[in-house]
Amino acid sequence: MIELKTPAEIEKIAVTGRFVAAVLADLSRRAQPGVDVMDLEHRARDMIADRGAQSCYWDYSPSFGDGPFRNVVCLSVNDGVLHGLPHPHVLAEGDVLTLDFAVSIDGWVADAATTVQVGFDDDVASRPEDPDARLIDSTRRALDEGIAAALPGGTLGDIGAAIGAVAAADGYRVNTGFGGHGLGRTMHEDPHVPNLGRRGHGMELPPGLVIAVEPWWAIGTEEIVYDPDGWTIRSADGSNTAHSEHTIAITEDGPVILTDGRDAPGH
Ligand code: MF3
Ligand code: CO
Repeated sequence: MIELKTPAEIEKIAVTGRFVAAVLADLSRRAQPGVDVMDLEHRARDMIADRGAQSCYWDYSPSFGDGPFRNVVCLSVNDGVLHGLPHPHVLAEGDVLTLDFAVSIDGWVADAATTVQVGFDDDVASRPEDPDARLIDSTRRALDEGIAAALPGGTLGDIGAAIGAVAAADGYRVNTGFGGHGLGRTMHEDPHVPNLGRRGHGMELPPGLVIAVEPWWAIGTEEIVYDPDGWTIRSADGSNTAHSEHTIAITEDGPVILTDGRDAPGH
């Protein structure tokens, strides 16, 4: 069942979204060579406690993981791309780190993810000759294009088509097993938001729909394997991966990004 949100409810999700963006900005800044990823996990726990937020990940036991998840942020290194269970790992220059974070505040959830290159400037678009920078830039542009296609009266297929077109143009293949999702009172609600689609197909996008849009892909393959930890999903060929995610609302005036870090410290 799809629950549409009122403008007042969307503003509450935006409050959570600004916090999610602030945490991701803070953790990304701290993700420097020599830092252990567990330090990022603990920093996120402190920020959650200070804000009085609730983690959506802690004790989460979905079918796609060997639950319960006992961390508050997903940290996926290099070939790790989705649901990365944080493990002790000292970051090295050039590591490709995906941070994915969702909490609720006053009962309203926001979810976002970003991939960074440890020790490098975040302006990945300026370094297309670097395969990892090019990959990260591709999922960021796909996120922009997917969001731009999320128009009231458009369809879920429009979003998937826009995302898939960027992947295809850049020479990456899309795995359709995991994509975006509705969210609001909980982190995972209907509908599923695929990263491939056909324009004009699928559910119509009504004003009041709040969804997470989240393109992700690997350099070399769309095939995935589960890490023995039961959570972390990796590229099957070990190639590096990237993932970009925002929570957005469909409004009468078009898509509005609720996790874009406006007003976030550090932006
Ligand atoms: N935030 C992830 C998503 O984008 C879900 C992570 S679930 C966890 O949908 F259990 F791995 F934390
Ligand atoms: Co998500």
